[in-house]
Amino acid sequence: MKGLTLRHLSKTYFDPYSGTRVDAIHDVSLQVEAGEFVSVVGPSGCGKTTILNMIAGFLPHSGGDILVGGKPVKGPGPDRGVVFQSFALFPWKTVLDNVAFGPKMRGVARAEREKIAREYLAIAGLSEAAGRYPSELSGGMQQRVGVVRALANDPDVLLMDEPFASVDAQTRMTLQEELTRIWAEKRNTVLFITHDVGEAVFLADRVVVLTKGRVLDEIKVGLPRPRKWDDANKDPEFQRLSAQVLEKVRAA
Ligand SMILES: Nc1ncnc2c1ncn2[C@@H]1O[C@H](COP(=O)(O)OP(=O)(O)O)[C@@H](O)[C@H]1O
Ligand SMILES: [Mg+2]
Repeated sequence: MKGLTLRHLSKTYFDPYSGTRVDAIHDVSLQVEAGEFVSVVGPSGCGKTTILNMIAGFLPHSGGDILVGGKPVKGPGPDRGVVFQSFALFPWKTVLDNVAFGPKMRGVARAEREKIAREYLAIAGLSEAAGRYPSELSGGMQQRVGVVRALANDPDVLLMDEPFASVDAQTRMTLQEELTRIWAEKRNTVLFITHDVGEAVFLADRVVVLTKGRVLDEIKVGLPRPRKWDDANKDPEFQRLSAQVLEKVRAA
């Protein structure tokens, strides 16, 4: 796995028609070590999606550097996998073929890519769904397939932008527990973006608080793994960390 480095990153949106400029990101520096899980938390409009899109290579940055494994990011690439809040699975492909799609694009032969897809589906408890189509799955299951599809490419860096925001609270807790479990097995470098303080703390090794396009603070999370919500809810350390992060977010 490779680490992710942001150095003095900035972004100004410019609308040539109205002549307006929006300084969305100011001088953000951040190091995510190889195999580390970092959450970025902040209120709506603070620049979370902007940062993620620049790292993914979907959006050019205005200043500073983005490095994956020490190499500058020049555009989208297979070293980074992305999961959004809403994204489309291919409706005409089965779950298995959806998950095997990335490896297929990389030229992995059919037998091998189906083996990879089945392995990831098994880790996520989705083996039964392999032959089904996305329309035959619940929203929570579709979201799970989306996460597994990104992981099946074995990206060095997994970028997630509020991937569980649109599923119900119960399913969301299951997905969060599953994500930490899969991650513990695969140890991709993860940058997970959310406005949900509890989610940020539950998942991460470190929480970065972003406000108005700037890094306000970083809080280390030393909670033991594997993590379960039943334990976290009873753990005073989890509550202390969540309160600490919430205070920072609200100070924005
Ligand atoms: N394409 C765009 N053009 C102009 N301004 C934008 C554009 N996208 C986002 N912004 C502005 O940049 C800021 C950060 O937005 P965004 O990254 O979406 O925040 P978040 O994901 O934290 O809600 C906001 O002020 C938003 O209005
Ligand atoms: Mg956003």
